[in-house]
Amino acid sequence: MKQVTDFTIVAREQLGNQYFMLTLRHPSAMLNVVPGQFVEVLVEGCREVMLRRPISVHDADERTAELKLLIQIVGNGTRRLAQLGVGDKLNLVYPLGNGFGLDVEAGAKVLLVGGGAGSAPLYHLARVLASRGLEPTILLGGRSADLIPVKEPFAQFGRLLIATDDGSLGHRGLVTEHPAFAEPYDRIYTCGPTPMMRAVAQSAAQRGIDCQVSLENMMACGVGACLCCVAGTDEGNLRVCKEGPVFNAKILKKLWNL
Ligand SMILES: Cc1cc2nc3c(=O)[nH]c(=O)nc-3n(C[C@H](O)[C@H](O)[C@H](O)COP(=O)(O)OP(=O)(O)OC[C@H]3O[C@@H](n4cnc5c(N)ncnc54)[C@H](O)[C@@H]3O)c2cc1C
Ligand code: FES
Repeated sequence: MKQVTDFTIVAREQLGNQYFMLTLRHPSAMLNVVPGQFVEVLVEGCREVMLRRPISVHDADERTAELKLLIQIVGNGTRRLAQLGVGDKLNLVYPLGNGFGLDVEAGAKVLLVGGGAGSAPLYHLARVLASRGLEPTILLGGRSADLIPVKEPFAQFGRLLIATDDGSLGHRGLVTEHPAFAEPYDRIYTCGPTPMMRAVAQSAAQRGIDCQVSLENMMACGVGACLCCVAGTDEGNLRVCKEGPVFNAKILKKLWNL
C-alpha cells in the first residue's frame, strides 16, 4: 500500500560529476518494493520546484528497511537533492507504479539492458533475479565510462558487460551492437533513454523475445490523477505512473513502430 513517509539519509556517495547515491532508512517498517517501482521525492527548500520528483528505487533491503536512490543532476530539483547529506530527512511517496514481471522460470536466459541513469532500477531487479537462482546477463551502456554511474557492483548478480560509444570501457559502440546482445534470451528487461529502449524492443520483437521496458515519461502528480504522463499504447492511453512505468513492449508496437 502507498505510504507517505519521512526517511533519514544514512549515506551519500558522489559518483563522478553528474550522479550521486542516497541511502535512506525508513523509521520502522518493511518497504515492500518490487523492482522497477519508483518513489516521488519531495524537494524542500527550492521555490522553483513545486512538484515531487519521480526516482526509481535502485535497491531495497527489507532487513534494514533501507532504500537506495541513484540520481542524475539535471535541473533545479535534483541539484537541490544533491545538497542533502547524512542525517537530513527526505519525504517519499512510495512504492509507486507497477514493477518488472518476475515470472521467469528457473534456468531462463535473461538479459538486462541499461543506459546511463536508466540502469538505476535494474540493480534491484538483478539482485532479486539472482536471489531466485538466475544468472542474468547485465549489459550497461553510455556515451563514455563515466556516464555509467554504477558498474562493478552489478557483477555480483550475473555476467556484467559494458558498451561505450567512445570505447573508454568495454565494447565500443551501442548496447545493441554488443556481441552478447545477439545471443538468444527468454526475456529482456530494459531501462534508459527512449531511443535505446526502442532499439532493444525492436530487436526483441524481431527475434520473438519477451521484452519489458520501463518508461520515464515526464510526470506531475505521479499517482494517476493528472494524465500528464500517458503513453499511447496498443491498449489505449495508459498512465506511466499508474499502469507503468514497466510495460511489455508488445503493447508499444504502434508507438515505437515495432
Ligand atoms: C518513473 C521514473 C523514474 C525515474 N527514475 C530516475 C532515477 O532513478 N534516477 C534519476 O536520476 N532520474 C530518474 N528519473 C528522471 C527524474 O525524475 C528527472 O530527471 C527529474 O524529475 C528532474 O528534475 P529536476 O527538477 O532536476 O529537473 P527539471 O528542471 O524538472 O528538468 C531538467 C531537464 O530534465 C528533463 N527531464 C525531467 N524529467 C524527465 C524525465 N522523466 N525524463 C526525461 N527527461 C526529464 C527536462 O525536460 C529538462 O530538460 C525518473 C523519471 C521517471 C518518470
Ligand atoms: S503523472 Fe499524473 S497521471 Fe501520471
